[in-house]
Amino acid sequence: MVNYKDLGLVNSRELFKKAMDGGYAVPAYNFNNMEQLQAIISACVETKSPVILQVSKGARKYANKTILRYMAEGAVKYSEELGYKIPIVLHLDHGDSFELCKECIDMGFSSVMIDGSSLPYEENIAITKKVVEYAHKFDVTVEGELGVLAGIEDEVQSDVSHYTKPEEVEDFVKRTGVDSLAISIGTSHGANKFKPEQCTRNEEGVLVPPPLRFDILKEIERRLPGFPIVLHGSSSVPQELVKTINKYGGALKDAIGIPEEQLRKAAKSAVCKINIDSDGRLAMTAAIRKVFAEKPYIFDPRKYLGPARDSLKELYKHKNVNVLGSAGKA
Ligand code: G3H
Ligand code: 13P
Ligand code: ZN
Repeated sequence: MVNYKDLGLVNSRELFKKAMDGGYAVPAYNFNNMEQLQAIISACVETKSPVILQVSKGARKYANKTILRYMAEGAVKYSEELGYKIPIVLHLDHGDSFELCKECIDMGFSSVMIDGSSLPYEENIAITKKVVEYAHKFDVTVEGELGVLAGIEDEVQSDVSHYTKPEEVEDFVKRTGVDSLAISIGTSHGANKFKPEQCTRNEEGVLVPPPLRFDILKEIERRLPGFPIVLHGSSSVPQELVKTINKYGGALKDAIGIPEEQLRKAAKSAVCKINIDSDGRLAMTAAIRKVFAEKPYIFDPRKYLGPARDSLKELYKHKNVNVLGSAGKA
């Protein structure tokens, strides 16, 4: 058993309080490998931003749970070595069982998500409450979810989305004791968040997706004043990255994300945590494809993973400064 405090990590409670008061959101970036982690930490140190490092069930399977945990410990030291110690949360993304949440808490995670959003309401309450009771013994914070996001990734899938019902949120928070709540207001996982036929075209001919349901968010804020809200599925799917991928042999079709100004607006509200994974995948893939196409003689992984890491770092810095508003808040 190791407690997160011994690893130099923090839980999300104080970070969310500051984000709520300051009108910004803390970035929650997923990582599965060393280059992603280096890019996240160096970007957040350079922009002086707090950060939530997210590990999914799929990431644990891919990279090995023990290695990932030690990497997070290394991230704390790396930030110190870069000359500025930022607050770092190690968070389980989309935990799907009590056992998985417990295992992560026992090995030093400072925050866990129990995603019971696809369960019937009373079952979601029961499993979330059980995780909260265990987590709070160790001062680990817990994120629950109400409402279902569409999208398919390795371990997280749903074909349809159901908006969060505002009339359920007070009861859910009160009965479970969760520290933050993920809601569904029109975001979804992955790089294909909307079908072109759901979008309109602006004057430049660019597809504009339907706006997020800020009316639902507002009603949730009214019912839960000062309570931290989380947005999953918040990649913007930058079209220049999609174009680069497709130019160099990729085949991404109808990739559409959440416009940045919508996320900026959300970050100023009770939304204290914004989850971004797919944009990082796009940035890495675009950079690697470009190197492979332009320098086919290269076979040293550092020569393509290095540029991918640089591109990822620029993406995260841009998010912290221009989208989430977390720059300068560490
Ligand atoms: O929301 C899911 C995250 O993007 C993690 O995806 O399950 O493919 O690791 P993954
Ligand atoms: P994206 O697929 O939009 O990056 O969302 C990531 C996420 O919600 C991780 O939990
Ligand atoms: Zn998610």
